[in-house]
Amino acid sequence: MATERTLSIIKPDATERNITGKIITKLEDAGLRVIASKRVWWKKKDAKEFYEVHKERPFYEELVAYMTSGPIVIQVLEGENAVAKNREVMGATNPVDAEPGTIRKELGVNIERNSVHGSDSVENAKKEIDMCFSNKELVG
Ligand code: RTP
Ligand code: MG
Repeated sequence: MATERTLSIIKPDATERNITGKIITKLEDAGLRVIASKRVWWKKKDAKEFYEVHKERPFYEELVAYMTSGPIVIQVLEGENAVAKNREVMGATNPVDAEPGTIRKELGVNIERNSVHGSDSVENAKKEIDMCFSNKELVG
C-alpha cells in the first residue's frame, strides 16, 4: 500500500451543526492525518469550478447553491491508501445506503446534505488539492 493524499471537505450542513471536530476525529481514528486545513466560505465561482465534473448532472445547480450556503472546512488528508480509506470512512453518497459507523450514516442529513466530500481517485485528489492549496500550505 502506498502513502497517498486526498482532499476532504466538511460541508455546510456539518459546519452549521458544529460537528467539524466529530468528523475530524473519525478521520483521524481511521489513520488519516490532516496535513492542511482551512475554513472558507465559497463564492459561486469557487463551487462551480470545483464541481465542474458534475456540470451536466441534474443536481449541479442545487449542489453549487448548497456548497455556497455556509462555511466549509477544506482539508488534505495523508495516509496509507488515503483516497479509498477516506471514502470508506465517509460511507455511501446517500446516508440511508451508508454502512453503520460511517460519517454519512451517523451524521449525514440526506443525499445532498451528506456532511463530507472526498476525492474519488488519486488523479482527482491531486487536481482538487492543487485547486484548493498551495504547496507551502501542505505540512506533513
Ligand atoms: P462527493 O463528491 O461530495 O465526495 O460525493 P460522492 O462522490 O459520494 O457523490 P457525487 O456523485 O460525486 O456527488 C457529489 C455531491 O452532489 C450531491 N448530490 N446530490 N440531489 C442528488 O441527487 C444528489 N446527488 C449527489 C451530494 O452532496 C454529493 O456528495
Ligand atoms: Mg464525488
